[in-house]
Amino acid sequence: MSVSRILVVGAGGREHALAWRLARDPQAPEVLVAPGKEGMGDVARCVAAGEHDALALAAVCRREGVDLVVVGPEAPLAEGVADVLRAAGFAVYGPGSAAARLESSKSFAKDVLRESGAPTAASEAFTSFAEARGGLSRWGPPWVVKADGLAGGKGVRVTSVRGEAEEFLRDCLERERFGASGRRVLLEEFLEGDEVSIMAVCDGREYVLLPPARDYKRALDGDRGVNTGGMGAYAPSEDVDGALEEEIGRRIVGPVLECLRRRGTPFLGTLYCGLMLAARGPRVLEFNVRFGDPETQAVLPLVEGAFAELLAAAARGEPAPGAVRRARGSVVAVALVDEGYPDAVRGGGRIRGLDRLRGREGVEVFHAGTRAAGEDWEVTGGRAAYVVARGESRSQARARAYAAVAELGGSGWRTRRDIAEAAAPVREGGAGRGPGER
Ligand code: AMP
Ligand code: GLY
Repeated sequence: MSVSRILVVGAGGREHALAWRLARDPQAPEVLVAPGKEGMGDVARCVAAGEHDALALAAVCRREGVDLVVVGPEAPLAEGVADVLRAAGFAVYGPGSAAARLESSKSFAKDVLRESGAPTAASEAFTSFAEARGGLSRWGPPWVVKADGLAGGKGVRVTSVRGEAEEFLRDCLERERFGASGRRVLLEEFLEGDEVSIMAVCDGREYVLLPPARDYKRALDGDRGVNTGGMGAYAPSEDVDGALEEEIGRRIVGPVLECLRRRGTPFLGTLYCGLMLAARGPRVLEFNVRFGDPETQAVLPLVEGAFAELLAAAARGEPAPGAVRRARGSVVAVALVDEGYPDAVRGGGRIRGLDRLRGREGVEVFHAGTRAAGEDWEVTGGRAAYVVARGESRSQARARAYAAVAELGGSGWRTRRDIAEAAAPVREGGAGRGPGER
């Protein structure tokens, strides 16, 4: 069954990359984005429906004759937007709220991991501050403390300072810093190794692994500063060879899909595995239930073939193993962020010259938080846009990406300078460490 009109839900760089890639499919489907951003107009038509508004999205699907919905962000999935659209009869790529708990509850993810026999860090859950503080003597140093629920990437603290671990526990369990998301916390075994992200396109039973990627969470060069939504990424990651990929599929993705199917909540969508490549093998640090951001911007240019068909088949619960192939070469994505990011947007930032990069061989621009301002783009979100470049090698892709960035002007924005430079060591600190914490 071919797909001729696709609705992508969301408005960030990941959604622009998805729309770009879907529109390039051999069948050249039309792509709509709800709500999208005007900077995506090169590949998609924006429609006015909020990403949380399932009924408005269903109305768009009906009116436009959409034959596939791809949900980008986690919050609508956790809220059950995919359930509503599926119940209304639409083909949806993205899990229902029950399976989306793999991301929206870390203790649920641990239960599934345990039941699946998939390797992860040992952990213990707490809801009382006094008991959690008592648990610190069993679980560190270093301590890994995680708020159970969605916390916008800020709900993890890794530290060797006991007082900091305690403060974070107090923030979660007594001060309600993360609201309901922090009323339960996990103390987790500290793992060392290289981190890698691998995304699996899942139809409930079978899966197709996309090229492994590496993202850069810290705000500053040298992996310093606080955690952010992501300052850049590259793919493929050379840390994962064919044998390791096979192991990740066999020991993690397959058993987790099997477990969710047994529980009556099959997983249709992207299972994103955030892994630590520890000395004893890969360990799951986190699951996301959607495409990674910014990994998607680096991974999708490497996916050739009928990507829309792959997602449409998965949405129907059918495998499509031969639909896509991996391209050779390497892709580097560099985020252009507001000068103060990840603090609130200061306003007034301008990026000059972005449109001149469009259409250049091997270079793409994906918008996330921008608004057209004459020839410039105004910075309206923390992560404004991504410059993405492809090359035969990672170093070539990196050189192209930064050469393109160097041509940009304006003010009030910045990038990291060391994306894809060399695999950076994993450091202590976790999300939002220390006094500069945001
Ligand atoms: P998460 O959101 O669970 O992926 O955690 C955010 C970051 O904290 C990860 O990318 C790791 O750098 C770090 N981290 C999480 N869990 C652990 C762990 N068990 N051991 C060491 N570092 C961790
Ligand atoms: N890059 C990590 C995420 O998408 O949450």
